[in-house]
Amino acid sequence: MLWEYIQPVTIRFGEGVLKELSEVIAGLGGSRGLLVCTPFFVRSGLAEKLLKECGGLLTGVYSQVSPNPEVSEVDACARRIREEKIDFLVALGGGSTLDCAKAAGSICFTEDSIRKYHGTGLPMPQKHLPLIAVPSTAGTGSEVTCVSVLSDKDLGKKGPIVSNGFYPAVALVDPELTYSLPAHITAGTGIDVLSHAVEGYWSKGHQPVCDALALHAARLVFRHLPAAVREPDNREARAGMAEASVIAGLAFTLPKTTGPHACSFPLTNLLHIPHGEACGLTLDWFARVNAEAENGRVHAFARDLGFSDAYAMADAIHELKRDVGLRLDLKEFDLTDEHLEELVRLSRHPNLSNNPVEITDEMLNVMYQSLR
Ligand SMILES: NC(=O)c1ccc[n+]([C@@H]2O[C@H](COP(=O)([O-])OP(=O)(O)OC[C@H]3O[C@@H](n4cnc5c(N)ncnc54)[C@H](O)[C@@H]3O)[C@@H](O)[C@H]2O)c1
Ligand SMILES: [Zn+2]
Repeated sequence: MLWEYIQPVTIRFGEGVLKELSEVIAGLGGSRGLLVCTPFFVRSGLAEKLLKECGGLLTGVYSQVSPNPEVSEVDACARRIREEKIDFLVALGGGSTLDCAKAAGSICFTEDSIRKYHGTGLPMPQKHLPLIAVPSTAGTGSEVTCVSVLSDKDLGKKGPIVSNGFYPAVALVDPELTYSLPAHITAGTGIDVLSHAVEGYWSKGHQPVCDALALHAARLVFRHLPAAVREPDNREARAGMAEASVIAGLAFTLPKTTGPHACSFPLTNLLHIPHGEACGLTLDWFARVNAEAENGRVHAFARDLGFSDAYAMADAIHELKRDVGLRLDLKEFDLTDEHLEELVRLSRHPNLSNNPVEITDEMLNVMYQSLR
């Protein structure tokens, strides 16, 4: 088996590690930084606090990032970068904020709109600003990936752009930042972590380093997610989920995600289900289908996690979703046959081709029927 493992991001992890931000900036040699975040961190006062603590090195805040960031937000952020001659970025937030900053930090060196590269297959220019990624959810792992997932409402599409220029220079992972997450966001982002781990393992692009990371991350999610949802200040559970998130990010970047992520894009676009919850909705269905993969890898993964087989793991995923208050079906949407057809059509995303078992439209139809 031939494989390669590359991971260029420096990771600093631990409670209170955010205090090291100014030291990290000094290490990068940055002099005019833009803090990219959401309005939440402006309201909470953390944005202003960081600006003060960084003694003039962070010179401005761009806070117009929405969940499932829009291509227009990336373009607006890039304009700010050019106008203010910014030479490094700090992204503080969930995957949405990190993804917006990654794309803006590359596109700012051109006069292009990011639209030119979104879903068009055109490779992104590689030049980019150094980025310090500070995740505030335990979910996407975006702080260590070369992926930026963007949406374009006008064209009705959501999808990833992949570029080596998107790797942050440094990931500062401070579990304390996740204490303020409401229960339903902790639950949804947490099931995203499990999806990354499981999908990274069973992807056709699997390889041994990512396998080991995937097992470690999945074990942590089963152990810590329920307590993180119920007790927001549970130090051990929050740290466990933050660790799982960053490790799962490493586990799926190279092998890439598969069926559940492919299906999540239309579930988010059409039904507005948050990313992680959308991935989790089909994760147990895919675990059952992928159990049939010829190589038996899904059973092996499940056994390594302590389950009797892949079907028992699928049951445990279902129970975990119920336990943390996530949707188990799509009943509330009263989906028509036309809706179902559209979900099937739009689930045929390129990530589906990484799935270890070939998924036909008929199978997707059966899956969505079972959720309806
Ligand atoms: N780049 C990647 O590798 C990658 C991987 C998977 C998913 N994604 C993408 O990332 C996005 C989802 O990111 P996410 O799940 O982290 O959620 P998010 O960034 O969209 O944030 C969800 C909500 O939580 C709030 N929030 C974030 N941190 C908070 C905190 N500490 N306290 C209180 N509220 C907080 C945000 O303001 C927002 O309203 C999607 O667009 C998804 O497609 C990217
Ligand atoms: Zn995801």
